[in-house]
Amino acid sequence: MLRPRGFASCLVLLMVIGCASTGSRPDPHSFARPDKVTVEHLALDLAVDFDRRVLSGTAELHVSNHSGTDELVLDTSDLIIHAVSLDGVGSQDFSLGKAQPYLGRSLTIAIAPSTQIVTIQYETQPNAEALLWLEPSQTHDKKAPFLFSQSQSVYARSWIPCPDSPGMRFTYDARVTVPRGLMALMSAENPTRISSDGVYEFSMPQPVPAYLLALAVGNLEFASIGKRVGVYAEPGLVKASAWEFADTEDMMLAVEELYGPYDWGRYDLLVLPPYFPYGGMENPRLTFATPTILAGDRSLVALVAHELAHSWSGNLVTNRTWDHFWLNEGFTVYLERRIMEAIEGRDYSEMLARLGYQDLEEDVATLGETSPDTRLKLDLAGRDPDDGFTDIAYEKGYFFLRLLEETVGRENWDPYLRSYFQRHRFSSVDTQGFLEETEAAFAQTHPKFFETVDMKAWVYGPGIPFNCPQPRSQALEAVERQLTAWNNGADPATLDVEGWTSHHWLHFLRRLPNDISRDQMAKLDAAFDFSNTKNSEILNQWVQIAVRAWYQPAFAAMESFLLDMGRGKFLRPIYGALAQTQEGRELGRDIYRRARGSYHPLATKAIDEVLGWTG
Ligand code: BES
Ligand code: ZN
Repeated sequence: MLRPRGFASCLVLLMVIGCASTGSRPDPHSFARPDKVTVEHLALDLAVDFDRRVLSGTAELHVSNHSGTDELVLDTSDLIIHAVSLDGVGSQDFSLGKAQPYLGRSLTIAIAPSTQIVTIQYETQPNAEALLWLEPSQTHDKKAPFLFSQSQSVYARSWIPCPDSPGMRFTYDARVTVPRGLMALMSAENPTRISSDGVYEFSMPQPVPAYLLALAVGNLEFASIGKRVGVYAEPGLVKASAWEFADTEDMMLAVEELYGPYDWGRYDLLVLPPYFPYGGMENPRLTFATPTILAGDRSLVALVAHELAHSWSGNLVTNRTWDHFWLNEGFTVYLERRIMEAIEGRDYSEMLARLGYQDLEEDVATLGETSPDTRLKLDLAGRDPDDGFTDIAYEKGYFFLRLLEETVGRENWDPYLRSYFQRHRFSSVDTQGFLEETEAAFAQTHPKFFETVDMKAWVYGPGIPFNCPQPRSQALEAVERQLTAWNNGADPATLDVEGWTSHHWLHFLRRLPNDISRDQMAKLDAAFDFSNTKNSEILNQWVQIAVRAWYQPAFAAMESFLLDMGRGKFLRPIYGALAQTQEGRELGRDIYRRARGSYHPLATKAIDEVLGWTG
């Protein structure tokens, strides 16, 4: 996971604090004023130009001017606005505000109380933060160019002028024209075949917030893997993807049984080129996924469970602003582990929970245990909303919900969560509302519940609360016995690693001593061939240890890994480990110089800081 960005963003924070006043805007990260006028529907008509690396066309916004205001304010970032028309009448007044850190520029359009449709003719710029344009050589099959978007958290505005806040929803449809021979996909009803004329039509009839708008264009093929489920990937990856994700329909059935019907029709997965900056992104109806989870043994599919779970927690019931990010991610990790428990058994989900606890401890240590950023409810006004993307939201959120579950019992908790999703479907929620509802729900049956759990300490207090549940996994305890044997001098080749997959190895590697010697590394490598593993999670962990121990035989593998994929969860800690020493930094900068052009703007933003990169 991308770690907190820290110092540089603090400096910018000090610079903008004076102008960060949000007036009475409901979301500090959006200029929009839904209290005055709302956008109900978006109709896009875009052409995709790979040569210029530009999207151009029109965004038609269907507005409801319930206050009779004379202006519509939207979010933009690096967009070129050519013209605006109202209800079909052209050349209307509009103005772009001054660019503000993390927000981009407001677009203010003069409207009338009667205005219903605002049409904006615009184009994006090649550096649009949401978009990554790839050459054929940067894709799996190396035959066609590829484009994909990543709108969360505030980057939809870099490819569509819109109210870009998780608290503002609208339906959408789109017409997208791409070079012949390529397929276009969106977070909407999708085609399954390449069209002969390069024109595609999309519709998303359920209202979604802007961060869930998504587009991908490439040479793609579809394979059905269940009644409601399928995968899209480049032709050379379709078979492997279909095999890896075969359990997806069962996962859907598991959540539906626990928390109510899947509300979005189909659920498909799109396997992207390796420079996708995240593991997964829960774009409605079409999860975007990194190919680095194709482990060949289905051991990394908890990520699919996670993105699928967002169809309830996040997409159906959404955090109102990014301050309440834990309501999206903590709930989703909770659902993810319930799905994995239903499918693989309790010990499997406990194994995930224990590794998650380690991630939580590590992030609390990095941030500092009294840091305000270790609270569940964040305060991100005037800051980069992605500063909230730490394991706090995910893992502290998970353990909080698990504690609630354990306090009231599953028999009471599951129906409560089910009704929570039902009551808030297609709307947004905040932390205070969740606390009040939850307290009220259990006031009769569990009168001491609030104090026992100490909800306020969990949500508004820093660090890991004293009553955090402690997961126990037999599988990981077996790993620890082998570690003990190794620590007592056993030859690695004699360890019992029968049946170990990703998570066992992660636990093993994370528990190796900090001062491990190169000789010990070499012996482990000889026994388990870590430097040649095709498993991205294991390689990520191994390479970080190799950097710390300066175990050079692993460096060729590290270099290829850093050049061949762009997932922030791996880039950040590896470049971060390299940045610790002078020679590591030089090596890191040398690799980064060659790799940077392939990474997504959101990844380079983070790694530039890690390496102090100025070009
Ligand atoms: N929605 C997130 C990804 C995200 C978060 C994008 C914040 C931009 C800003 C997605 O659901 C997610 O959590 N992905 C994780 C994988 C998951 C298994 C923890 C990731 O990409 O690492
Ligand atoms: Zn998530």
